[in-house]
Amino acid sequence: MRAQSDTARIDILIDEPIGTIAPEIYGHFVEHLGGVVYDGVWVGEHSKIPNVGGVRKVLVDRFRTIKPAVVRWPGGCFADSYDWHDGVGAPDKRPRRTDFWADTPPSQNRAATNGPQRFDPNRFGTNEFVRFCRLTGAAPYIAANVRSLPAKDLYQWVEYCNAPAGATTMSELRAASGETEPFGVRYWGVGNEPWGCGGNFTPEEYATEFRRYTAWVPKYGVPLKYIAAGPNGGDRDWTTKFFRTLTARGAGALNGVFGWALHYYSGTTGDRNAIQFSTDDWYELIARADRMESLVTDHWTAMAEFDPAHKVKLVVDEWGAWHGASPDMPPNYLWAYPGSLRDALVSALTLDTFNRHADKIAMANVAQLVNTIHSLFLAKEDQFIVTPNFHVFAMYAAHQGGQSVRTVISAPSIAITRGRPGVTTLWGLAGSASLRNRELTVTVVNPHATDARPCAIAIRGGSVRSARATVLTSTDLRAHNSFEHPDALAPRDATVTVASGAVRHTFPAASVTRLDLTLG
Ligand code: AHR
Repeated sequence: MRAQSDTARIDILIDEPIGTIAPEIYGHFVEHLGGVVYDGVWVGEHSKIPNVGGVRKVLVDRFRTIKPAVVRWPGGCFADSYDWHDGVGAPDKRPRRTDFWADTPPSQNRAATNGPQRFDPNRFGTNEFVRFCRLTGAAPYIAANVRSLPAKDLYQWVEYCNAPAGATTMSELRAASGETEPFGVRYWGVGNEPWGCGGNFTPEEYATEFRRYTAWVPKYGVPLKYIAAGPNGGDRDWTTKFFRTLTARGAGALNGVFGWALHYYSGTTGDRNAIQFSTDDWYELIARADRMESLVTDHWTAMAEFDPAHKVKLVVDEWGAWHGASPDMPPNYLWAYPGSLRDALVSALTLDTFNRHADKIAMANVAQLVNTIHSLFLAKEDQFIVTPNFHVFAMYAAHQGGQSVRTVISAPSIAITRGRPGVTTLWGLAGSASLRNRELTVTVVNPHATDARPCAIAIRGGSVRSARATVLTSTDLRAHNSFEHPDALAPRDATVTVASGAVRHTFPAASVTRLDLTLG
């Protein structure tokens, strides 16, 4: 039913399920880095900034709305220098320690201050993190220290979190702080980026450490799900060598691994400015973000050599675009910026990629939640805004728990001059679809900087009774929110045409769209 004017077509094959989209794919990450924890999440009980037990209230309120399934903490690189004992017990007795990121030169050569971003007061520790998770409805995912603490500390951290009240000295320590009931933490990361800040291991060395750190940890009735720290981007060799060593003493070792973590940052462009960029920069970043597709399939294929049944799933526990800091944010916040429409497209195409690979990806954690890198929120003292990334997560929340179904898209591709080596074109439209009962959620990215895409959308195996559209777009590629203009870029409703059970919609230039289709 392509009309003369349609330049694109989407076929949604509702009888070809891919897998259930794990809600955890819509996961988050909070590290003791810059202004993420101190100021972003934690303002303290006695702050004049409205808070819930010390946690920034407006953050809790906005974050809850996007149904965060999981939050990773305390790092990142910070995790492998963090002693969890420092962050438990009486808050006024906790030690102050040098943060992993303390010596990072503040962006743009502005002077750093000696605040909590540099010398961590440990005011936000395990209890406070779990409090934050409970307030927002997310499951905690704790990344343990492999570089600078022995395996015993992972064992005892699990005990502190999960042992029943009164059972052990660790659970009594927890109870003494008012937390009688166990936290029931299921997700445990075993180090972070062991090829770099996590210890400069070889994959073989790390595989051996992984086996040792996860051996015989008491479970206290909680099904522990270990996440092994995987490759940096396309380092397929790391994946192959880890799995070869892990399984050297038998394939049974695979039963002890829930997820294989992949990190990929699509980087930045030009002079690293998050807001000022050219149209070529626009396409370059989008093309680089699109690499997630091949990273997922490549590592999945590499894993299959040792894990043909695919017991171990992928966990993309750090992803996003990474620009330079905004001059409007304090220097110690390191990479804090508001993000633009361009970053929203990076979010959308990445989440669509995860949805399309719902059979492979068990969790993903955008880096990071607030005040750094690909953040959803920006907070400075009593000022707070949502970024375009937040709007994408809000639009895409409907996919969580849905059945991902095969979606075939044809649209004229876009010639690009920069981006990834050997890549000279970018797809014209990309997206994903998921089904829950008779509700079909379709999300689509149009990366073209100037051209809208009229499109026919056919549902193979069903017909559409009614449709609604929500669109995030602007005629200004650099559109963004700021403390002065917090709603400069926000989603709006748009028109969708339904005729004889089929759908027609024009995807605006530079846009992210969600279609809510009710099937007959
Ligand atoms: O997210 C910022 C940092 O990027 C993390 O600490 C580290 O794991 C990665 O290199």
